[in-house]
Formats: sequence, C-alpha cells, structure tokens
Amino acid sequence: MYRYKTPLLLAMVLMSVKGMSQARQEYLLEKNWKFAKGDHPEAVKEAFNDKGWETVAVPHDWAIKGPFDGNNDLQKVQIVQNGEQEASMKAGRTGGLPFIGAGWYRRSFTVPQFAPGKRAVLLFDGAMSNAEIYVNGKKVGTWPYGYNSFSFDITDYLHAKGNNTLAVRLENFEQASRWYPGAGLYRNVHLIVTNDTHIPVWGTYLTTPAVTKDSATVRLQTTIDRSKKTAVIIKTNLLDASGKVVASASTPLPADSTIATQSFSVAHPALWSPETPVIYKAVTQVYEGTQLKDAYETPFGIRSIEYKAGKGFLLNGVPRKFKGVCNHHDLGPLGAAINTAALRRQVRLLKDMGCDAIRTTHNMPAPELVQLCDEMGIMLMVESFDEWKAPKVKNGYSLYFDEWVEKDLVNMLHHYRNNPSNIMWSIGNEVPDQSSANGKDIARRLQDICHREDPTRPVTAGMDRFDDAINKGFAAVLDIPGFNYKPQRYPEAYSKLPQGFLMGTETASTVSSRGIYKFPVEFAKNKMYDDNQSSSYDFEACSWSQVPDDEFVQQDDLDYAIGEFVWTGFDYLGEPTPYDSKWPSHSSYFGIFDLAGIPKDRFYLYRSKWNTQQATLHLLPHWTWPGREGQVTPVFCYTSYPSAELFVNGKSMGRLSKDTSSHQSRYRLMWKDVVYQPGAIKVVAYDVAGKAVAEESVKTAGAPHHIQLEADRSVLKADGKDLAYITASVVDAEGNLCPDAGNLLQFEVTGAGSFKAVANGDATSLEAFQEPRMKVFSGRLVFIVQAGEKMGKVNVVVKADKIRSASCGLSVK
Ligand code: GAL
Repeated sequence: MYRYKTPLLLAMVLMSVKGMSQARQEYLLEKNWKFAKGDHPEAVKEAFNDKGWETVAVPHDWAIKGPFDGNNDLQKVQIVQNGEQEASMKAGRTGGLPFIGAGWYRRSFTVPQFAPGKRAVLLFDGAMSNAEIYVNGKKVGTWPYGYNSFSFDITDYLHAKGNNTLAVRLENFEQASRWYPGAGLYRNVHLIVTNDTHIPVWGTYLTTPAVTKDSATVRLQTTIDRSKKTAVIIKTNLLDASGKVVASASTPLPADSTIATQSFSVAHPALWSPETPVIYKAVTQVYEGTQLKDAYETPFGIRSIEYKAGKGFLLNGVPRKFKGVCNHHDLGPLGAAINTAALRRQVRLLKDMGCDAIRTTHNMPAPELVQLCDEMGIMLMVESFDEWKAPKVKNGYSLYFDEWVEKDLVNMLHHYRNNPSNIMWSIGNEVPDQSSANGKDIARRLQDICHREDPTRPVTAGMDRFDDAINKGFAAVLDIPGFNYKPQRYPEAYSKLPQGFLMGTETASTVSSRGIYKFPVEFAKNKMYDDNQSSSYDFEACSWSQVPDDEFVQQDDLDYAIGEFVWTGFDYLGEPTPYDSKWPSHSSYFGIFDLAGIPKDRFYLYRSKWNTQQATLHLLPHWTWPGREGQVTPVFCYTSYPSAELFVNGKSMGRLSKDTSSHQSRYRLMWKDVVYQPGAIKVVAYDVAGKAVAEESVKTAGAPHHIQLEADRSVLKADGKDLAYITASVVDAEGNLCPDAGNLLQFEVTGAGSFKAVANGDATSLEAFQEPRMKVFSGRLVFIVQAGEKMGKVNVVVKADKIRSASCGLSVK
C-alpha cells in the first residue's frame, strides 16, 4: 500500500512513467461527504437527493458534539471483571454521547484515468461500525468490527466514465462497548487505482531475520495480483533514511507464481529503537517486460527482538523493560476522529515522560499512530479484541467472533507486520474465555494465526482471571504471559508457568482528578466523594488495582518481569470508575494525563522513574487553601533526585531520602505532617553526591487577575488539519496559577485558522467540546486551533468576565 507518500517516490514514479499513465495513484476521500443520522435505505441509490444532508469532512465522529446525556447508552450491567455482585445502572459508561443508531455517508467520486485494465480499491482505515459499503447502488461488502481496516476491490462496480456514488451505512448498537467507541467514518478512506498487474493492499511482508551492528539481512516478500498470467520482474531498492540506495535486487516472477521473495544485505545498518527511530524504505517496482506496472513503498526499520527465559526482552540484543501505557483510541475533545497532529502531541508528551511503549487497548490502532510510533520511537503492542466467544457486554464482539475473528486478525496482521515499532501482538484483553474449558484452545488457535501470518513477533493477552488462566492452561499457551493488576502474584505465576518471564499488560489503574486533593491523605479503594472527583495524592485505586509504586517495586525487583503498561496514558471518554453509577461523569480518572492532555501529578511520578535523561522535580499539592490554616496538609515531591529538603515559608521541614521502608517511600518523598499556612513551599533537591542541585516552589495564589496562554506550537502547516494546543491558565497578579479558579473563558480565533475544540479535564463537566467557551478546571483548560489551507497569521483572543484577557498569534505556513 502507498500510505507513506514521499516526494521522492512520487517523483520517481512521475519520472519513470513520463508521458504514460502513472503506475498507481492513491487519493484520500476527505472532503465533500454528505452525512445524515438515522436510517435512509434509499440513500444507496445513485439518484438519491442528499442536498439536505450535512456536508462533512472525513475523518468524522458524528457523536462528539453531544449533547451529553446520562441516558445515552444507559447500561444495566454487572461488571463481572470489576468484582460486582449484581447489576446496576451505569450512566456514562460509554461517555454519555449520542453514538447509538444508524448513520449514512454519501459521496460522489471520479476515478481519474480509469480505463480497461485498471483496478480500483476502496480502503477504509476503520468505520464505526457494522459498515455496509455501496457503490453505484450495489452492495460491495460489509465489515462489522469498527476498529479494523478493510478494503474492497470496486473495479466491477464503477462506471466507465464520469461520477460514481459511494454510500456507507453504519450502525452502532447499545450495550456494545465498555468505553466511548466513536461513531461514523472516524478514520481515513482511501481510493487506490492500479494497473491490473499490481501489488494488493498490504501486499508486502518485510522482515529482518539477521541483525548485527555490522550487517543485516532484509527479506521482502511481494505479492502480485494479476488476472492475466504473465511473468513479471520485481525490482526493489532499499533506501536509507537519507534516501541513498543501500541494496538492490531484481527478481523474475514466473507467470504461475504470486509471491516473489527477495533477500538483501545491508552493511552497518542504523538500528531502530525508541531512542534511534531510523526508518528505511523498500521501493518496489513491478515490470511486465519494459512496462512499469506498479510502484510500491514499504517503510521499515532494522532491529531484532527476542524474548528469552533468564534474559527477558531484548531489543537489538540489549535487555530492557517496557515503560508502557495503555491508551484507548479517542482523542478527548476531538472524539474518535483521527488527526495526526493530535496523535503526534500525545506521543510527544509520552516520550517526555520517558514512556517507550503503547498498548493499543483493546483494538487495532489507526495507521497514523503506528506510523508515528515508527518515526518518533515508541514500541507498540498491537491489540485486537476485548471479547472472544464469551460476552462482556450484550452486543459486543462475541456476536461476530465465530464468523469474523480470523478475517479480523489477518487484516490486522497484514496491516502492521512491517512496522518496526510493533514488537508484539495481543490477541485479547481479559476475555472471560480464560475460565472456560476451551479458552486455551481458542488462545492457541488465535496465536497460531498470528504465527502463521507473522512468525517474527510473539503473542500475548491481558489476563485478569489469574487462577483460571493458570489452572486451565490458558496462560501457558501464550508466548508472553500478560497479567492485568497482579504484581503481588508475579512470583507465583513465574513459578507455575513455562515461559520464564512475564509482563504487566495492564497496571496501576490509579484514579485522580487534576489539581484536586482530598484530606485526610490515605490509601483507599473505590473511594467516592460528593463532587465526583478523585484525589491527586495518588493513593486511590480500584478494588482490583493498585497505586503506581506497587508495580514499580516488582518491575525493579524481579528480573523476569519485562515491563508494564499503565492503565492509562490519557483519560478517555467513558468508563468513569469509580463514578460509573453516579452521573454526571463522562470520562475516566485513570489517565496520567487528563482528557485535555494536561499532566496530572502522576505524570511526574512516572517521569521521575522513566525519564533517565532529564531531571524531574515536582511538588504537590497546590498551596492555596483558604480555610485549611493550621491543618495537616501533606506535601509530596516526585523527583528523580535521591533526596530533598522541604521548606515552608523558609522553615525547614527536614531532608528526606528515598528509602525502602514502604513501596511509596522508594519512589516519593513525603512530608506527611506539614501544617498549612499561606505563603510558599519550596523544595531543594540533592544529587547522589549530596550537592544541592535544583529547587522548586509553589506559592499561595491571590485572586484571579489575568489569563495566561501557552501554545504547544507556533507554526502550523497550511493543510487544513494541523493543530495547535493552547493551554489557558487563570493566574493572579504575579502569575501564580489560581488552583481553584473556575472562570468561564471565551475563545475568538480569526485569520488563517479556526477554533476546533476545547477540554478542561473535568469528568463531570457537561459543557460541549465544540463550543468556543468553557470553564477552566483547577485553573486550566486546553483549546485547539486548527490551521486553514491558506498561509497567514492566526489571531487568538481569550476573554473572561472580570479578569484581563489574553491573546496570542500563530502562523500557518
Ligand atoms: C481492566 C480492563 C480495562 C479497564 C480497566 C480499568 O480490567 O481491562 O479495559 O476497564 O480495567 O481499571
């Protein structure tokens, strides 16, 4: 597939086919879609009049505008995996957004230079859900699972000349999900035009069977589809990151064969790793005689992965442990509609934390995320399903499992088996089949499918039913046993299982609300407060889960633990545990970052441990507590330094060093008896040599005085899609954050960009993400500005009653 378009390859194709038709074209069907909610069976017809329908751009999420309502997908369920004994009403489990029901998309399209001997394919990166695809009034095919990519050859449905009509029907059922799935054509739709002799969608398979510092073997299998039996020649160049050809091969493929195998040797390869995400490209041309029939590009990385008893996980021969997070697919206020700039920001934030891996819970990722992980350096566990045969929700994947599981797996495996970031497959998450007699057989069957299509990567699954998974043989089947929330039982699992290593597929599930602190500070499970928030002292978790330090201890102490994937990197829409029965609450509390992507305190705890390149020094809580004077208000410091001294209004509260007296004191410095008085807290950090090397302070804030803006980027691309995320803070006259502020802000974006969305990270807020106004939560929010398609300046003004407004400028180039 031609996903990774580069000027270089386009130029090559253009040059080599000068005066003739191009070998292959790919178009994104982005603009000028017509959309209507509800069912419109007549809309399959070409003559259907859709003038009254809304005009939208794809990717599109029809439900993210809201309004929020606790009755949307209200679920009466007993969540067995959470240990619930009886069913109760769950509002907000799927985000309280109106995604249920049918929706239709229509678009007319032409296929440039379509002629006898050409083929056309529609490739959907994902369509939520139960997609039915119609071209020119005829049904082309269906694909139920909303997270998977799928394609159909539409050659035989096309008109010889002129316009064609594409209609897509989607339908989301109630009680089909445990989180917000999004709705509609929320990922890209591609039209690919080739010659009859061509490389099909995902038609190359590239592996690096032997890798050393001195040389690497690269193996490329290329599938050729053609209706005429003709011999072809496959010519491939391997290009390094600078575009230099480092190896070449020319291989004849006889008329009766469909797969060509080429082998290359690359001297002194630049190895791929999260720290050195070097991307090579295989550029393949298919010739019939002297005629170029197809040109296809396969980006790849050169790296080796091994998982070994006694050694754990090795990347390029070097052992390392995964510092990973689990992420759902939604992008907070943008909903499920995919946007590369939004994903890039997430990856950037995670990498700053020292995170090196993402688990794509609990489904196939968007191709844009996989490409970014290749290019920016994040390892991926590519996951497939949250359910197999046994249901968790009434209308979940179990309804499709028998008919679709192999097709869904194969598409995922073919789609992502060339990506260097992808270092393992996951066949499922907490499937209740762990407890059934044949659970292990299903696991073996799915794992075998993965091995058949991709023998180079191991397979895991997230297991929560520890005893069943071990006793019924399920855990022993997996290449990598993955456990959800079982750090205390790792030694037992290790002793009972044959693999010789194990992994925390899902860890922590600590809950917190950014900037909210509750007293007294104590460990609590399932703790609920009247305001539907959780405390940011990071002592609160679910009945089945832990605080971060409990996992850290095991990962640090047990050689055979190969790393963890924290639940979750970012807050997501839906699953507002512990408030899933207490509307209003529409989003999770598990994130290290809130729904707006603002770091919670926990970010600094993970960063202090994971980011080994940059120092971390962070103090909590905020120090503006009118009414708490004289009361105990513990102060925590999350730092990469081994010790620090705390001062309250200049008076020392003592110097603390990390020690092994408890899980927490190994990773946090905690002054538990500090008594609040307004003023300032300051911490001075000492390095291993005992030298004072850094300071951090937090001051009591005065009254809200003005707004401060901070944009994550000041120059955007004029592609109509690029985004800047601007953090707005309400501060006092001296610039201190007002941590209790809840001012309503209004946004005016003019010029070469527009206001796109806003979020404040407050799970209880029912304000719409798409309206240019929102209240700050704990003094902050983030709004998003989208570039237009023309170059120019963007002017941003943010106003609020009674405090000074703020403005900033961006440029679009
Ligand atoms: C796990 C589950 C996740 C999420 C998490 C919350 O059991 O795999 O999807 O529900 O719990 O703690």
